[in-house]
Amino acid sequence: MRYEDKERLYQQTQKKYLWLRLVNGCKSLVQKKERIFVLWFFCPISILIWYLFKSNLGLEDIPLISPVFIVLVDLMLPALLIGGTFVILILFGTPRGFDKTANELHRIGMTNSAGEVPMLLTRTQDKRHSNVEILEFDAVGIPLTEWEKERGYIEAALNVNIVKIIEGRNKRRILLHVVPADSGLPDFIEWNDSYLTGDDSTLTLGKSQLGLESVDLSKIPHILLGGSTGSGKSILLKVLLVQSLKKNAVVSIADFKGGVDFPRVWHDKCKMCFDEDTLLTLLIELTDELERRKTLFRENGRANISDYNKQSAVPLQRHIFACDEVAEVLDKTGLAKEQKERIGLIENRLSIIARQGRAFGIHLILATQRPDANILSGQIRNNIDCRVCGRADTILSQIILDNTTAANQIPKDKAGRFILHDGTVFQGFWIDETDIL
Ligand SMILES: Nc1ncnc2c1ncn2[C@@H]1O[C@H](COP(=O)(O)OP(=O)(O)OP(=O)(O)O)[C@@H](O)[C@H]1O
Ligand SMILES: [Mg+2]
Repeated sequence: MRYEDKERLYQQTQKKYLWLRLVNGCKSLVQKKERIFVLWFFCPISILIWYLFKSNLGLEDIPLISPVFIVLVDLMLPALLIGGTFVILILFGTPRGFDKTANELHRIGMTNSAGEVPMLLTRTQDKRHSNVEILEFDAVGIPLTEWEKERGYIEAALNVNIVKIIEGRNKRRILLHVVPADSGLPDFIEWNDSYLTGDDSTLTLGKSQLGLESVDLSKIPHILLGGSTGSGKSILLKVLLVQSLKKNAVVSIADFKGGVDFPRVWHDKCKMCFDEDTLLTLLIELTDELERRKTLFRENGRANISDYNKQSAVPLQRHIFACDEVAEVLDKTGLAKEQKERIGLIENRLSIIARQGRAFGIHLILATQRPDANILSGQIRNNIDCRVCGRADTILSQIILDNTTAANQIPKDKAGRFILHDGTVFQGFWIDETDIL
């Protein structure tokens, strides 16, 4: 870009910012009523200053004074009032750290091709979380993906922890939800039943800087947990299953890792399957139940399980099917034709549940280290909207979340630390099932 073009853009942007600060200043009068008094005070003080100035000139003592000069002196009063009001409004509309933020972002190279830095427009307290501040930026054309990529640098430059980055009311605005840099997440939070929610469909995952993170299965019916070995998938899976049991759901667990992760106590409370035949039978039962519920809801004119349970004397239970390391089940590499066909049948049933399970209260929670396309078909993956990823490399993060945030943001030494599909980082609960079940 040529120097003159840059200069022209720079001038335009400066005018735009001045205007935006003026608008924000006016808006702030509505939110912070005491500011109106500042303007009220300003008027009489300006008039007094102007009056003293005019009297000191002693115009009436000067012979043959030009009438133009007298008019000019008189015009100074409205100019002072209007100009001063503008300056005050611009000051009101300028957030704390306006210049400093711009300078810091400039230093880390957070600029567009014209060399402009995102401009801080407002800083507000998050209404739901008192420790979170929302910084609203004019993004100057820098897309959300770039902000995500530079997250670490932005945190260091602004000395904050970013809880989440989202677009504002349009793509030109970026909202950073931030907390002070020293308020990190704890490494260990033990589950206790006080975290249990009152309804039958919400499962709590852990704590983020915004508070408790949970997923409502009546809205987002299935969960995919990813992460490299030792990242904490099995523990998180158990946290979700314990809650499901406490909410009176029917829990089935497929564990093809030799049963080490699910001790005896689980076998008493859940349907367990350790081989393909039992798994296929279980999935057939689940899809049959789905069909049965379909007919039941149709006959009763009900749209979904929550609707049905409201009017029924005998409520239907939710079914949760969990599979720890789904790749162990679905990997067809090196298998004979007959075995491949059997896995095809398993996949087919999983995919029916993934597509239709929400309304009928039948849910999948799948955990895996390698959820690539050969292992988890698009049909299943695309219908699982709650994606959670622990520490991972860029490939794994990309497969689970469709971005590399898990690789960038989850420290390699943290177990039980996860990132959600919406970019929220949380510490999953730790649980010892023998104490709880
Ligand atoms: N929420 C947590 N808080 C603290 N530590 C945890 C948490 N989750 C897991 N860990 C630690 O990490 C270890 C591994 O956890 P886990 O077995 O759940 O990992 P995984 O991802 O299932 O591993 P693999 O893929 O090998 O099965 C646990 O034994 C525990 O020490
Ligand atoms: Mg595991």
